[in-house]
Amino acid sequence: MASLFLIVVSILLSSVESRFVVEKSSVSIVSPYDLSSKHDAAIGNFGVPDYGGSMVGTVVYPQKGSVGCSPFDGDKPFKSKSHRPTILLLDRGECYFALKVWNGQQAGAAAVLVADSIDEPLITMDSPEESSDADGYIEKIGIPSALIDRSFGEKLKSALKKGEEVIIKIDWTESVPHPDQRVEYELWTNSNDECGIRCDEQMNFIKNFKGHAQILEKGGYTQFTPHYITWYCPQAFILSNQCKSQCINHGRYCAPDPEQDFGEGYQGKDVVFENLRQLCVHRVANESGRSWVWWDYVTDFHIRCSMKKKKYSKECAQGVMKSLNLPIEKIEKCMGDSEANTENEVLKIEQEVQVGRGSRGDVTILPTLVINDVQYRGKLERSAVLKAICAGFKETTDPPICLSEDLETNECLERNGGCWKDPKSNITACKDTFRGRVCQCPLVNGIQYDGDGYTSCQGVGPGRCMIHNGGCWSETRDGKRFSACLESNLAGCQCPLGFEGDGHKCEGASMLMNAKKVLPVNVMDAVVRTHGVDSIASVKEINCT
Ligand SMILES: *[C@@H]1O[C@H](CO)[C@@H](O)[C@H](O)[C@H]1NC(C)=O
Ligand SMILES: *[C@@H]1O[C@H](CO)[C@@H](O)[C@H](O)[C@H]1NC(C)=O
Repeated sequence: MASLFLIVVSILLSSVESRFVVEKSSVSIVSPYDLSSKHDAAIGNFGVPDYGGSMVGTVVYPQKGSVGCSPFDGDKPFKSKSHRPTILLLDRGECYFALKVWNGQQAGAAAVLVADSIDEPLITMDSPEESSDADGYIEKIGIPSALIDRSFGEKLKSALKKGEEVIIKIDWTESVPHPDQRVEYELWTNSNDECGIRCDEQMNFIKNFKGHAQILEKGGYTQFTPHYITWYCPQAFILSNQCKSQCINHGRYCAPDPEQDFGEGYQGKDVVFENLRQLCVHRVANESGRSWVWWDYVTDFHIRCSMKKKKYSKECAQGVMKSLNLPIEKIEKCMGDSEANTENEVLKIEQEVQVGRGSRGDVTILPTLVINDVQYRGKLERSAVLKAICAGFKETTDPPICLSEDLETNECLERNGGCWKDPKSNITACKDTFRGRVCQCPLVNGIQYDGDGYTSCQGVGPGRCMIHNGGCWSETRDGKRFSACLESNLAGCQCPLGFEGDGHKCEGASMLMNAKKVLPVNVMDAVVRTHGVDSIASVKEINCT
């Protein structure tokens, strides 16, 4: 058996047991009020968690069949009859997590919480490799799910037992760190296209996600890095036929034989070669500022050079590189000498970063997607992944693709998101973001607005009067324009001399005329210096006449 000789490198490098990090969302009880509290929940590794969003729903715990291992009776018994969705609470045990969630979805639930059956730290609910039924239900799970700890589950159940309506909020807004305006993400993948459902899944994802990935990368919104797991051969077996056929660089970098049969078809080292080539394609393309070409290369290679078609070869790879105008020589040089008894610089780095660090656990299964150093949970599906990436941008720095309508709702459209807005100029403090909206006084034509963003914003600094007169009163009388926006003041509105009011409304022009007539010229000059541009003109005119 091929895999017997291969050890995932993380076991060697981290002498302690391998690290597994549980990715979380939060669940808070909204009602009944006396139970208000916030709890962690572990995001299920299937279905579609609402990264960046939240869901408020009514908890339902089934009278019978609370483990959810068989379909629930009736036609969508848990379909919500009110505006609030149903969040189904099920018990852990007796069958796959994924099956419970599937049965919940079929019964009309909008989300499923699974209560742990023992007291322990939260674990990630994973899916089996393949669905136990022929339909392949795992792929069809489209709702979010999470595991909660036993005591929280008990708390919900006892409230329900008392006949209370329990409303909870599941919140994924903080599930992806969002420190800045660029999202770093990585995909751990494999060029082997004959490894069954996992390989099909990752290839379908790459093909479907390519468009989004390239838009994000070209816009500088993301930095994507592909990674490839490699194994190594234990010292004692380096000269064995198994290691010779599965490894390059004298047992240093290996991959399992695609057919698990040494006599037939492709060998493990063919896979290592191609993984290395794909790494080098990315590296070389990245150096010339075209990192996104990796997505083209990988999808084209899969279509043109598949193992199924018996075209998984260097020659075929070169054909793909040629059509993508990639510098073949540079890429070959990056790949180095696979026969040499030395480290390969590129693959060595791959083995090192495979080991978990910080918020990310060890990478041991394929495919693995890591966003801002946190492992993505849920279905590897285009829009679900885009949502998770979008949740990784700092508020207000979201790229346009994240704000498209099918992905999120523009919260500024309704009541201007509760933010300040100048009805005259349509200048608004509402900024739609992927996670919601922020009320932030805007920068318009170089003029910074200042204020709390909710009830007031004011233009500040020179030039502010150029934009809709700084939001201040102005009026033209007898061909002369009067303004309450004073260039000499950095902010605010003030009625010009002779007028009375709060600056947004001013009255009493005749008084100004009178004033001008009686005031000596030097006082008029003083007026000129303290009043707005238009006032200067009008005052000067008066002076001339
Ligand atoms: C790609 O290029 C950027 C900027 O030049 C660099 O920071 C990054 O490390 C490169 N990535 C890889 C995988 O070489
Ligand atoms: C402000 O927006 C409203 C609604 O979109 C529009 O009818 C109005 O003309 C706009 N006003 C200005 C000054 O742009």
